[in-house]
Amino acid sequence: MEIQQLEFLKHIFRFNRRIYLDHNATTPVSNRVRRKMEQALKYHYGNPSSFYGVGRKSAELMEQARGQVADAIHAAPPEIYFTGCATESNNAVLKSVSAHFYPKKKKIISTPIEHPSVLNTLAYLETQGMVVEYCPVDGEGRVLLAELEKRMDDETFLVCCIAANNETGVIQDIPAVTKIAKQHGALVLTDCVQALGKIPMDVHEWDVDYASCSRRTNFMDRKALAPCMSKMAVHLLRYCMAVIRKAGCGLARKAFTISSGLAPPVRMSTNF
Ligand SMILES: Cc1ncc(COP(=O)(O)O)c(C=O)c1O
Repeated sequence: MEIQQLEFLKHIFRFNRRIYLDHNATTPVSNRVRRKMEQALKYHYGNPSSFYGVGRKSAELMEQARGQVADAIHAAPPEIYFTGCATESNNAVLKSVSAHFYPKKKKIISTPIEHPSVLNTLAYLETQGMVVEYCPVDGEGRVLLAELEKRMDDETFLVCCIAANNETGVIQDIPAVTKIAKQHGALVLTDCVQALGKIPMDVHEWDVDYASCSRRTNFMDRKALAPCMSKMAVHLLRYCMAVIRKAGCGLARKAFTISSGLAPPVRMSTNF
């Protein structure tokens, strides 16, 4: 054990401090972010669709946030959709894409290691006539690409694969998954909640059609993340609900959804 680690432990025991280690479940909000959020709540309450000053300021902040989020994942600003949480993002994408393709195409291929927000939505979609197949993973939790390839057919309209697992931390080879999906004309949704801010994300290089992210698991490494995330979270706070309605109604060609995790629940309008 290094001397700094020893010093750290001594400090912890001396002051009886609690160490919180479940940052994959959720992270504390940094003071910088909290201060910015308070500022946004207090001063920037305008409806961004309104034409007067307070509303225009909100719209300006929202667009600034959209740009910052887009930069963080290498997307274009119009591709960013703000939602209340990643569960809602996964729901919106799975249901709206299914509604678009059904009944012409019925098959979704996913993995058994998805977050419950995906698994439960897939179970619901099965009750609506969708066929869902789960591609097996190896002993370490990595998707078996040959098995994925075997399951792809003309009926498959969507491949859904988590980028980084919330329990094990296993990172999937998303470009390889996308390559297989694209060879068969299928779209790709990847749940990036545990990836954003922890591994480099480039949604265009990965060639995915939909990526869901959440702010609430991303404040762990303040030094690394604060520059992009803190500004982002502030601006998302009041405005994140608007776009989901759009995402729920039609099929956006590319949509990268980011949640602030703080917005009130939004009713989604899908065809189901
Ligand atoms: C991989 C993954 N997907 C989705 C979610 C759901 O995120 P949210 O709490 O923003 O709905 C989580 C939450 O921790 C997660 O870890």
